[in-house]
Amino acid sequence: MNITIVGTGYVGLVSGTCLADLGHSVHCVDINEEKVQMMKKGEVPIYEPQLEEVFLRNIKGNRLFFTTDLAEAVKKSNVIFLALPTPPGGDGSADLSYVLEVAGQIASLITQYTVIVNKSTVPVGTAKKVGELIKLKTSVPFDVVSNPEFLREGYAVEDFMRPERVIVGASSKKAFEIMEKIYLPLTNAGVNLIKMDEKSSELTKYAANSFLATKITFMNEIANYCEKVGADVDKVRMGMGADDRIGHRFLFPGIGYGGSCFPKDVKALIKSGNEIGYDFKILESVEQINEKQKTILVPDIEKHLGTLKNKCIAVWGLAFKENTDDIREASSLEIINKLLEKGASIKAYDPIAIENVQRLLGDRISYAKDMYECVEDVDALVIATEWGEFRNPHFEWLEKRMKNKAIFDGRNLYNLEELEAHGFYYKSIGRKIIIN
Ligand code: UDX
Repeated sequence: MNITIVGTGYVGLVSGTCLADLGHSVHCVDINEEKVQMMKKGEVPIYEPQLEEVFLRNIKGNRLFFTTDLAEAVKKSNVIFLALPTPPGGDGSADLSYVLEVAGQIASLITQYTVIVNKSTVPVGTAKKVGELIKLKTSVPFDVVSNPEFLREGYAVEDFMRPERVIVGASSKKAFEIMEKIYLPLTNAGVNLIKMDEKSSELTKYAANSFLATKITFMNEIANYCEKVGADVDKVRMGMGADDRIGHRFLFPGIGYGGSCFPKDVKALIKSGNEIGYDFKILESVEQINEKQKTILVPDIEKHLGTLKNKCIAVWGLAFKENTDDIREASSLEIINKLLEKGASIKAYDPIAIENVQRLLGDRISYAKDMYECVEDVDALVIATEWGEFRNPHFEWLEKRMKNKAIFDGRNLYNLEELEAHGFYYKSIGRKIIIN
C-alpha cells in the first residue's frame, strides 16, 4: 500500500520506517527542510536502537521516501498517518493546533477516498473534531481513524514489529478494512488487532499510560513506607509480582517516572476530566507524588553531608531512563537543579544524553567523559538512570577515586550486602540504609 506519514518526530519516523519494513511504500513528510535532506542522505535524526538498520534497508529497497511537499505525498496515497506533536498547553491539556492545522491542509488536497489516521496521543473526541473540520472544507469522502502508538523509547522498533496489540478505532467498514490490510503482516504473525470506536481507542492510550504511571507511583509510595517501617521493598515487590493479576513488570520503585509520555498523558487526562467536571483524584495524587519523588534523595544527601554548600556531587545518568538520549521530564534535571540551588557543584555523566543536557544547562555543571572520571574527588554519587553500565561497577575504583564513599541510588541497582562489604554509605529507595 502507499502510505503518507506527516511528522517525522519519534513516533512518525519509527512508524514510517517500520511500515516500510512491512512492505508498504511510505512517504514521510516534514516541514523541516534540513531534517528531510538529512534523512534523504540516510542519516537518522534520533537515537533509537535498531532504527538505523531498518531505515537504511528500506531507503535502499525504495520503500521509504522523504519530502517537505505534503501535496506531493498526498497525491501518492489514500492513507495518511498524522504523527504530529501534541505538547501540553499552558493548562496541561494537549495542544491540538498542529493536528488541526495539517488536517485542514489535507482537506484541501485530497481528491479520492482517504483514511486519515491519528497516531498522536490526542484527547477523546479528537477524531470527531478532525472529521468535522475536514468535512467543512471538502466533499471528497474520507474517514478519520484512531490508531494510538504504544512504543517505548529504546525498544520502539521491537515494539512496532512485535506489539502486544494494535488498537484501531473507527466507525466505517471501509476504514477498518484498510487498517487491517496495513497491519496484515503483523496479524498474520499472531498479533491481536483490537477494533473499537474512535473515542474508546483514544482513551485506551491515555488509560494505559496513566495506569502504568499509577503502578510505578503506587510502588514508590510502598517504598517510602517500607523505609519508615523497616521493610524491604525489593522483597515486597517480588512477593506482590508473583501474583499473576499484578505481574512483575513496572513495579520497580525509584525516583519517579519521566519522559515524553507519562507526565504529559497523566496531566492531559486530568485536564480532560476537569473540562467536563470529572475529578480524576487518583491521577492528581499520582502527579503530586511523582513530582515529590523525583527529588526525594536530596534531603538525604544534605543530611548525610551536613550541608550541600561547596560540596561536589557526581550524577550518573541524565536520560529519563536507560537506552535513550531523551531528557524530557528527567528526574536527574530536578535533582541537579535542587542541588545547585543548595550550593553544591555537579559533575555529570551519561552514556549518550550529555549533549542534550549541555544545551540546557551549559556550564552550570561540569561533564565527565566516563563514569569513573565523574566520581573523582566527589563528596557523593547520585544514580539517576538505570543504565546497564552502572549496574556492575568496579567498586574498588570508586573507593579510590571518591573523596567520600557515599552513594545515593535512585534506581536500586546494587545489592545491599555488596555495598556493605565495600564500606560505602548507601541509600537507595525503600530499602535499609547501609551505614559503614
Ligand atoms: C511509555 C510507555 O511504556 C509506552 O507504551 C508509551 O507509548 C510511551 O510511554 P517510555 O516513555 O518510552 O514509554 O518509557 P517507559 O519505559 O514506559 O518508562 C517510563 C518511566 O517510568 C521512566 O522514567 C522509567 O524510569 C520509569 N519506570 C518504569 C519506573 O520508575 N519503574 C518501573 O518499574 C518502570
